[in-house]
Amino acid sequence: MNERQGHVEGLSEHELSEIRMLIEERTGICFDESRERFFSTRVREHLRAKGIERGTELLRAMRKSNIEYEGLLERLLTQETSFFRYPGVYQAFEKRVLPELHTKKFWNNPRTLRIWSAGCSTGEEPYSIGITIADSLSFADAWNVEILATDVGRHALKHAERGTYKGRSIASVNERQLANHFTEVSGGHQVKPRLRKMVSFAQMNLAATVYVGRMDMIFCMNVLIYFSEERRRSLVQRFYDTLEPGGYLFLGHSESISKMPVKFQAIVLNDCILYRKPTADELQKPELVAEGRA
Ligand SMILES: C[S@@+](CC[C@H](N)C(=O)[O-])C[C@H]1O[C@@H](n2cnc3c(N)ncnc32)[C@H](O)[C@@H]1O
Repeated sequence: MNERQGHVEGLSEHELSEIRMLIEERTGICFDESRERFFSTRVREHLRAKGIERGTELLRAMRKSNIEYEGLLERLLTQETSFFRYPGVYQAFEKRVLPELHTKKFWNNPRTLRIWSAGCSTGEEPYSIGITIADSLSFADAWNVEILATDVGRHALKHAERGTYKGRSIASVNERQLANHFTEVSGGHQVKPRLRKMVSFAQMNLAATVYVGRMDMIFCMNVLIYFSEERRRSLVQRFYDTLEPGGYLFLGHSESISKMPVKFQAIVLNDCILYRKPTADELQKPELVAEGRA
């Protein structure tokens, strides 16, 4: 049966669109035409799994209970990720960003580095950040490194907290990193406590404004693509405000902030673009800053 025609298993187009609006309103995630089929298939799967016969029943339950709402949300989230997903990003992070911040903060006491992995899914991204810092920052132990890793998906965060990975997820972790940062356990490889201690996981909805303190770097990779243009703009502005002057924003490969009015300096390195927040001095010299240009 064609899903776009009227009722499908007690679920009308109107109900589907109400559910879509509810999810978008609360999380910013936008199911446009390209993801319509994915959306209706997942909602129907959910109805079947919960033994709910009608869309109206599901809507009522979602509005009444956060648990019901999150149950469906988890099914709709795209949580694909892996360690060192874009090697070029981690190279740029290691070769350009860390040395720059090292020089900038060398005389600070304490020497603190604060990083936010926004939309961290099952944890591969924040742990990859931690591994890169531990392996390449000079005297890494002398730094106070805090990686805040947030996601709206509770199941993904539980997985992240367990920190056990196998298969494709850790395919890009090399032998040396595996030996230094993981312990072999029955279900795969588990991150060692030293790496685990660098990362704090928290459930956080990016559509809600939560104060996280100032950050030196923000990784928000492959999250903005799911948001509407308007949400994207306000989130990028929030990231700008959250970053320290001289701090960096890392986005996914297909995400660009071109045409946005934020004053990030776009730096092209190999196959990736880094967005640097200019310092107050640099803002006085507009020729140094390409406004939101990608
Ligand atoms: C495709 S994954 C990206 C994971 C990782 N950043 C990477 O690039 O490998 C997108 C993540 O964004 C999260 N997400 C989507 N909407 C969100 C929201 N409103 N607030 C917080 N996290 C959200 C999803 O749960 C999912 O884990």
